[in-house]
Amino acid sequence: MMPQEVIRAKRDGKVLSDDEIASFIAALANNVVTEGQAAAFAMAVYFQGMNIAERVALTKAMRDSGTVLAWDLPGPVLDKHSTGGVGDTVSLMLAPLVAACGGYVPMISGRGLGHTGGTYDKMESIPGYVAAPTMARFRSAVSKAGCAIIGQTADLAPADKRLYAIRDVTATVESIGLITASILSKKLAAGLHGLAMDVKCGSGAFMPTLPKARELAQSIASVATGAGLPTTALVTDMDRPLADAAGNAVEVAYAIDYLTGARREPRMHEVVLALASEMLLLGKLARTSQTARAKLQAALDSGAAAEKFGHMVAALGGPRKFVDDPWQHLEAAPITAAIHPERAGTVRRIDTRAVGMVVVALGGGRTRPQDDVDHTVGLTWLATTGEQVGPDRPLALVHARTQAQVDQATALLRAAYRLTGRAAGEQPAVIDRLTA
Ligand code: URA
Repeated sequence: MMPQEVIRAKRDGKVLSDDEIASFIAALANNVVTEGQAAAFAMAVYFQGMNIAERVALTKAMRDSGTVLAWDLPGPVLDKHSTGGVGDTVSLMLAPLVAACGGYVPMISGRGLGHTGGTYDKMESIPGYVAAPTMARFRSAVSKAGCAIIGQTADLAPADKRLYAIRDVTATVESIGLITASILSKKLAAGLHGLAMDVKCGSGAFMPTLPKARELAQSIASVATGAGLPTTALVTDMDRPLADAAGNAVEVAYAIDYLTGARREPRMHEVVLALASEMLLLGKLARTSQTARAKLQAALDSGAAAEKFGHMVAALGGPRKFVDDPWQHLEAAPITAAIHPERAGTVRRIDTRAVGMVVVALGGGRTRPQDDVDHTVGLTWLATTGEQVGPDRPLALVHARTQAQVDQATALLRAAYRLTGRAAGEQPAVIDRLTA
């Protein structure tokens, strides 16, 4: 079928058949569909929507546009995907934790874009770590260490890569159907047996409102399961930074503190355990969430999860004893300074997106996909809602290269914190759970 006929049918609100979707996506991947046609298709979907069957067909068609990995491992192949946030260090702890419980986690992560940090950038702050390995090295790391966190590869779901780039510049990213197919096509291509999806909700999330976050979570759980990938989606709070650190090297150090038990913040611990136990259930590594949580806690307490992180780092070229003393290897920013509020008070609300933008302004994130990031900069000891701040308790510590950056970060962070007015609702860390 000609691309313009598929676009016309969707423009007029018709339901597309599997064949129509498959032929359009195959033509998109082969560059037969022009950029203008792809943009018109995305806009037609944006306005007319797609039902679940169409989303399943779109997901499968984009999966089949490139390599689909198959694994031959003695345990289930599992992954977690997050819609992204600030201080969202979960992946760094969860991948080795699930590996320590018998799962295999080939985690293909994204770079940070906009206010959200990228797991790929965080891992790249480890000297020697090859975050873009060959497929053979990736496979070998997953098989030896049980987990490997790497960056997006060009050969998985190339049709999504092309469509996403066009959506990004045509105001068509915010379509639940297109987001669902985009995320899941890459996950299906990674050859997973189960997926835990973390849909963030709140001022630092891509989906700020609860109804929208729930809608995306439900769409992902239903479409993934319909496409043959059992998935559970959790909606989690991003109305405040999840970790009290935001940046690259500082979040790696935070993850090591968590894994070794030096420090485990309760809200972070809850999100990690909730997502990891869904993964164990999906992979049949536990029968109930209680047994899953007990297994996960034992893997943390015994040091097995921290050891897996160390194996992953070594398998991908990083220092052998990284976990023993991460700051011996990570590069620290030359200046650390406290950012105090202008007046003492209680933190009522945090514009979490704006906190993420402080890290971007420091050079720790990107404003364009091609930008380099500075792994050393960031924020630590971030105050959270309900905390008293003042001369003895700053809003955060800033890690910067120059005094000018410190000054800019001070102004931006003060503006991101509200110490007056109505308090933000005290959401639980895990707000909802959705299955197909
Ligand atoms: N992340 C993706 O991979 N795709 C989208 O469409 C949105 C977020």
